[in-house]
Amino acid sequence: MSTLEYPHEWDVLEGWQERVKFDGASRPDVGYVIRKKGFHQQIAVPYPPPYVFSHPLAYIAVSPHMPRELRIGNISERLTPTPRAYHIDSVLPWYFPHQLLETRDKSVSVQVFVIDPSSTPFICRMGAMRGYQNIDGDEIWYVYRGNGICVTELGILRYGTGDYLYIPKGFIYELHADSAPERQADTNKTIFVGIESTEPLLRSKTGMDDVPYSIRAVRVPEYKQLEHFPVVSYDCKNPYILAVKRLQAWSFVEYAGSPLASVGWAGTPYPFIINEKDINVPVVDTLHTDPTQFVVFTSAEEKVAVSVFRPRRVHSIPYYHDNTYDECMFLVDTYAPRAGSVGVGDMTFHPQGFCHGPQPNALRVSQVHADPKDNDWSLQRAVMFESRIPLIPTRESIDVELKKYVSSWIPRN
Ligand SMILES: [Fe+2]
Repeated sequence: MSTLEYPHEWDVLEGWQERVKFDGASRPDVGYVIRKKGFHQQIAVPYPPPYVFSHPLAYIAVSPHMPRELRIGNISERLTPTPRAYHIDSVLPWYFPHQLLETRDKSVSVQVFVIDPSSTPFICRMGAMRGYQNIDGDEIWYVYRGNGICVTELGILRYGTGDYLYIPKGFIYELHADSAPERQADTNKTIFVGIESTEPLLRSKTGMDDVPYSIRAVRVPEYKQLEHFPVVSYDCKNPYILAVKRLQAWSFVEYAGSPLASVGWAGTPYPFIINEKDINVPVVDTLHTDPTQFVVFTSAEEKVAVSVFRPRRVHSIPYYHDNTYDECMFLVDTYAPRAGSVGVGDMTFHPQGFCHGPQPNALRVSQVHADPKDNDWSLQRAVMFESRIPLIPTRESIDVELKKYVSSWIPRN
């Protein structure tokens, strides 16, 4: 995120020039921890930091014009700047995505889509639902589990674990999870974790052709092989029931034939897949690489971002930070700074207003190497969804929340 446009009055800060070494790492070994303000400032505070965790007080709104749940006297625990975590494997299969977190204006939502290939189609009043169309915004899905095909108006995309599936606003698609046992060794469910944004999600501009990914690595819909997939029906004899999401509500629209039976196309954007192995993230070995470097998709005004954590050389564990984005991080692998509190398949939610970094125990054992060649190689993968507009946990999220996560931030002797 660019900070160059901010006004700078460095002179008024005379005397605050670097008193410690801001080498990109919190340094419990020399008695300070770096606390970042957004992406802009670094402040050194004594170690151990005094703010490791204090539970936020209940929220009480002051405006009578606010929604009912926010009015004076109504306390909403969901609005406090409380760290939360969710166990995504516990999300039940459903025909539509589950929304875990969403902004109040509904412009951004973090979602989980669990598809059980053995389930019968969703039957609405008009018949069996077959496809989806999201008019509210662009969707990006990370395929956490499962294989299958996504049929779009432009052809078929084969998805598998580790893929990012990009569905632009308005495109019609069907999802057919593969139920073949040999391709679903550990589960018969397909699990997508993703984000929806009313602002278009664009490829991050990095100044490098192959960062965050080469356009040549993108997998586009396969048009010529439509006939090889009998599960997909392009017949025009039977009515086609399409689920349309508009204004955050699903409606059903009946077409006389399949709206997927396209005969031509021109334009942009289009649905595609990029695999996580084809995503390139720049890292440095002399500083803790700010995850801002890992942004792969972002909106034009950078209100929302999708960042990908790939296996990489790690200089040090993260700073403590007062983030200016709500951060929602899905852990594909274990993540050392959260070890013991959350793990594979969990999603953490760190709202703005909650100063956070490594869990106290992780901070205690952290090391900074004098020689970059001693830095650890981390295989850790994760996806981070960020929103500058605060996210609110939905009622759905409560069912899969890891209630003990909040207490993992309390220092233990
Ligand atoms: Fe964070």
